[in-house]
Amino acid sequence: MAQQTVLITGASSGIGKATAKLLAEKGYRVFGAARRPEVANDLADEAKSKGHDLTLLSMDVRDDASVKAGLDKIGEVDILVNNAGFAVDGPLEEMTVADLEDQFATNVSGPFRLITAVLPGMRQRGRGVIVNVSSISGVVASPLNGIYSSSKWALEALSESLHFEVGHFGIRIHIIEPGSVETPFGDNARRVGAAAGNESPYHDLIEQWETAQEKLNPGGSTTQPEEVAAVIVDAIENGDKLRYPVGNDANMVITARKNMDFEAFESVMRQQLGLTW
Ligand SMILES: NC(=O)c1ccc[n+]([C@@H]2O[C@H](COP(=O)([O-])OP(=O)(O)OC[C@H]3O[C@@H](n4cnc5c(N)ncnc54)[C@H](OP(=O)(O)O)[C@@H]3O)[C@@H](O)[C@H]2O)c1
Repeated sequence: MAQQTVLITGASSGIGKATAKLLAEKGYRVFGAARRPEVANDLADEAKSKGHDLTLLSMDVRDDASVKAGLDKIGEVDILVNNAGFAVDGPLEEMTVADLEDQFATNVSGPFRLITAVLPGMRQRGRGVIVNVSSISGVVASPLNGIYSSSKWALEALSESLHFEVGHFGIRIHIIEPGSVETPFGDNARRVGAAAGNESPYHDLIEQWETAQEKLNPGGSTTQPEEVAAVIVDAIENGDKLRYPVGNDANMVITARKNMDFEAFESVMRQQLGLTW
């Protein structure tokens, strides 16, 4: 088969950067997009020295003109990986509609903008793969990440509908659901209210939830971005299912959620995590 062109958003850091690197190593024609692509100049330099086909692009997934300019440079996209994302953290009471819209602009409207832009070409060619990077938070919602979770639940719903709509045209949709992954994602989160350390009736919840997360991932995240990259590439090359949880935490929590009603799941999770709030 001719060399396949992949566009991956959020390729300057973490999961996106590891995925761009792996895809380039495997011989794909890779376009890695971010608002600050220069942050990944080391990746571009390494690819160049090895003769890999990797180009970094400036693209803000929140902006029509920026996405169009990026796509015009690429031409036909065979494989789209919607990976760019961030989190707005904090108690819902302390959020505003602007916070919700800010979160959805990147995590939901961003992928949607790219999907609708590449679908006509994929449909006409009768083939294509779209991988949407969701999260364990796209399956279960936890305290203090209601806005982030709702954005990933929305991405899951878009993906599931798309799966039904475009499989008919030879286009595969895959959803990646990582648990906690060791990337700058936490540092890049925007914290609001109690999560930002402000005076708040939710102060004790923040403390309890931090302890709970330590129980879920003792010693911090253990999943490396390269492991998620390997699952994304496997989905692109061999994908035969819609959802791919990644990491022990994601597998454990998502399996539990699938096998229990909500009340049983809540009771087990509260017990395991020591959550009394
Ligand atoms: N790390 C985790 O624990 C974890 C777990 C589950 C799911 N995820 C999901 O995995 C994806 C990647 O996260 P990560 O952990 O690799 O985080 P990261 O290291 O913070 O990387 C995020 C990437 O997205 C880009 N980005 C952010 N806003 C953008 C925008 N408006 N337009 C274009 N690019 C944008 C960033 O580059 P610029 O800032 O230069 O634009 C960066 O390249 C996200 O969708 C996240 O929700 C992460």
